[in-house]
Amino acid sequence: MKKVAIGTQQLNVVDEGAGTVLLLIHGFPLDHSMWRPQIDDLSSDFRVIAPDLRGFGTSSTVEPSVSMQRLADDLANLLEALDIDDPVSLGGLSMGGYVAWEFWRRHPRRLKHLILCDTRAEADDHKTRQTRVATAKRVLREGSALLAKMMIPRLFATETLQTGAPAVDATRQVILRTHPATIAAALHGMANRRDTSTWLPDIDIPTLLLCGASDVITPAREMQRLAAALPSSHYVTIPHAGHLAPLENPVAVNQEIRRFLDR
Ligand code: MLT
Repeated sequence: MKKVAIGTQQLNVVDEGAGTVLLLIHGFPLDHSMWRPQIDDLSSDFRVIAPDLRGFGTSSTVEPSVSMQRLADDLANLLEALDIDDPVSLGGLSMGGYVAWEFWRRHPRRLKHLILCDTRAEADDHKTRQTRVATAKRVLREGSALLAKMMIPRLFATETLQTGAPAVDATRQVILRTHPATIAAALHGMANRRDTSTWLPDIDIPTLLLCGASDVITPAREMQRLAAALPSSHYVTIPHAGHLAPLENPVAVNQEIRRFLDR
């Protein structure tokens, strides 16, 4: 791992392999380690870059709210700091997908392909927004353990939880280590994010969409609708997986990513 300075921030970044850049953006409230099975396997063919977004993992801390636009700009600044000028393949899971839409909007010349896992384009409705604000307040008061308790059962498929996969405990530890201020800032940022669904007909770069068959946060039928609205998309349901499909079924996910990028 290395630290990369972008403005006043220090991002913690995995940068492994060589060749075409595959930039992987983690979900909430996680860090780069959710992509470990992709980094280990795909770095034999690609240069895989997986940062901890600002405030997450061991990257620097954040302001009270962090917008998806800000996170997308951080990625463009990261590519600049790493001297990468050619367009990249950008993969994002859930919140990482919200950041990916903004990256497409703000830095189109930097983008060659999109890989979207377990995400959506619509903004939050009123009720979800209120829940996020209330959760942010509680996490600041009660600590990150509250979120680990709330989210772990929803992040994984029941079968992953029942087999006691090591990924479940590792993910719990990542959430427990995430600073409550970072969690609150990202919750505010997600609550205020733009509805990007009107952009979809204009996103004409090749886009791979993957969704865990048992995802309860962004169900497969929602992602299928998303795929239908994108002009150049390919959708695949990942079996034996919930919301964290890349971590729960890396064999299937890596095979789809390889197939997509090798075209
Ligand atoms: C994520 O996995 O990034 C979150 O579930 C996204 C969200 O809360 O909307």
